[in-house]
Amino acid sequence: LGSSSAASRVLDASLSEASDDGRCAGEHIPVRSSDGVRSTFVEIQEKRMQQADRSVLISCPKSIAKSNLLQFLSNHGQINNYFFYESYGMYMLVEFADRNGAQALCDAGCIPHTKGEFPMPFRSRVLAIRPRMFPNAASAQPTSMMPETDIHIINREPVSNKDIISRLNSLESTEQQLRTLVDMQQLTDADVRLRFMVCSLLQDMCATIFPGTLVRPFGSSINSFGHTGCDLDMLLDLDGVLFGNKRHVVKNNFELDYQVKMLSSERSVTQSVLSVMGECLDYFSPGCVGVQKILQARCPLVRFSHQPSSLQCDFTANNRIALKSTEMLYIYGQVDERVRQLVFAVRSWARSHGLTSSISGAWITNFALTTMVLFFLQKRSPAIVPTLEQLRKLADPEDVHIVEGHDCTIVSNLEKITSSQNTETLDQLLVEFFNFYGSFSFSKHSINIWKGSEQNKPESSPLYIVNPFEHHLNISKNVNVSQLERFVQLARNSVWQLQHQEEQSSPKTRPWGLTAVMSSQLQSNNTKGRGRMKSGETLSKIRSLLENSVLNKAGGNVRKMQGG
Ligand code: CTP
Ligand code: MG
Repeated sequence: LGSSSAASRVLDASLSEASDDGRCAGEHIPVRSSDGVRSTFVEIQEKRMQQADRSVLISCPKSIAKSNLLQFLSNHGQINNYFFYESYGMYMLVEFADRNGAQALCDAGCIPHTKGEFPMPFRSRVLAIRPRMFPNAASAQPTSMMPETDIHIINREPVSNKDIISRLNSLESTEQQLRTLVDMQQLTDADVRLRFMVCSLLQDMCATIFPGTLVRPFGSSINSFGHTGCDLDMLLDLDGVLFGNKRHVVKNNFELDYQVKMLSSERSVTQSVLSVMGECLDYFSPGCVGVQKILQARCPLVRFSHQPSSLQCDFTANNRIALKSTEMLYIYGQVDERVRQLVFAVRSWARSHGLTSSISGAWITNFALTTMVLFFLQKRSPAIVPTLEQLRKLADPEDVHIVEGHDCTIVSNLEKITSSQNTETLDQLLVEFFNFYGSFSFSKHSINIWKGSEQNKPESSPLYIVNPFEHHLNISKNVNVSQLERFVQLARNSVWQLQHQEEQSSPKTRPWGLTAVMSSQLQSNNTKGRGRMKSGETLSKIRSLLENSVLNKAGGNVRKMQGG
């Protein structure tokens, strides 16, 4: 690759959507195939997994001549895509046109030997590169035809709350605020690529013991509601090992089986597999730190930080229903653009008031909140999104999916879902959302997105949200009375705030619209509740923390999949 045209080919492979500060605008999951048909969720996942499979992650010095480095890398295979980013030092993600390119590069690598330290004999697709020390220092200067300044470093830092507020304040309508919030917070293409890359690296490691396994992301990384910095949920899919080989009917009628160890339950198998994988991650996998095995939780998991991507990871196994509920959320996110805009707004509102938290406890989870938004949208007249039962009816025979006796069938072809006739604006929907839950009969009724109507609660949990696919479970069983009370009070205050806004001339200097309901002052806006709200909030926080510490002592992570 010595010519300028070849050099520009590599340059073209970079993420061209990067803006001046290197931040990628928008989400670039390919949602349509070349013939214009909308891709299904599964097709998109497959594409992403293949991209990651032919990619490598490379640590490099910040000062490296990036264009020279690209030139060097392209000697091993054609590069499809690449980007540089910072995470505990400078890294780049390089996607080759095929797996051979990635393999050729890895084959050129060596295990480093340093005095007094002994390397673990494990090779992965996480590499480190540095320029050779030639006697002639000039060799470190860029020699490629590519201008160094054209190579961006992607900014992956979440936008600060202060910047979000100031940007949203400067806008003209609540509608614009909600749209802009999504643009500022949603996962970028680079984020998504990195998330699939981490899964792919884990898959390589798991495949050394369990060939044929897949590691798939699920949750907010791929359900279209994820924001920059959200955790990465992954699951080990062992179906390929367990059910990969169909039994052959052979002429002589012999049956051939592997001799395997048997355990008393599927849960024990999951715990054993995750325990071994946790050890492997801890000992061998470069950049995986703080590995915690949380095997007694309802859904056993291994939690760790992946430094090369700066991602907080939860690794589970045999969690097929979670994958299906992820697909369900993705589909709802595609049905009407107002869904994502409202979900992002409500999640940000909840986060800014401490109604949700990254720590396990009695807080409402983002999954539960999203389900509440969907339920609210089902209750509009006309409905903005269909019920899950309606999505079930639209399913094709190949969509039928039963997991552990639960019918998780849901239409995969997005073209079959008709658009809603509802024309309500985001301004209206935001205030109506708070109105709806400010007066919802939580004491009597459960929220059920399968039916799209409230039902009598089968038991006395303060907040009862029927699990979309396991209808006997409550996904918000962890939420206590004080957290629910805070939610309701804040929703009521938000209605009041949105309906009593003072006119401001442009440019606006005080919070308004979405920023006003996200502001901490909201809690004292309702004059009657001023004193009570503050002390009530403190008490509820203390109570939740106490409960949380008790729960944590009782068995590690209990938030995940609690009660469903
Ligand atoms: N999930 C589920 N049942 C539950 C809890 C979670 O099926 N009771 C599934 C959902 O698909 C959810 C995913 O597991 O999206 C991951 O859970 P979690 O990480 O708690 O939520 P996220 O949607 O990923 O949101 P966050 O950004 O807070 O991580
Ligand atoms: Mg998550």
